[in-house]
Amino acid sequence: LSKIEIKLSDIPQGKNMTFKWRGKPLFVRHHTEKEIATEADVNIAELHDPQHDKDRVINPSWVIVLGVCTHLGCVPIANAGEYGGYYCPCHGSHYDASGRIRKGPAPLNLEVPYYEFPDDDTVVVG
Ligand code: FES
Repeated sequence: LSKIEIKLSDIPQGKNMTFKWRGKPLFVRHHTEKEIATEADVNIAELHDPQHDKDRVINPSWVIVLGVCTHLGCVPIANAGEYGGYYCPCHGSHYDASGRIRKGPAPLNLEVPYYEFPDDDTVVVG
């Protein structure tokens, strides 16, 4: 099936979990209050691929992105890199906790797939 259903209460605040969806890694990240504030405050004029956090999330507590580096497709490491989000070890791309590219060769932010929250404890991606 092309959709995946994920139970949100299995993912503690501050954690990123990786699922497999349509043959690709899918990251589901439960933001801390501090991460929500930090990502909302980023000056988008400083970004390579300018996008406000609120245009990337439905609920700021949850960041849902494909775990595919937009440079050449490696899988970034969660909670790593200089911006506290993701780090791609293949050629050194740093993403923030919203999945936006901040430093390194990747040209674009991590892709946000279509998803919805049918209830408070569930996200359906796809
Ligand atoms: Fe991620 Fe090159 S594939 S930095």
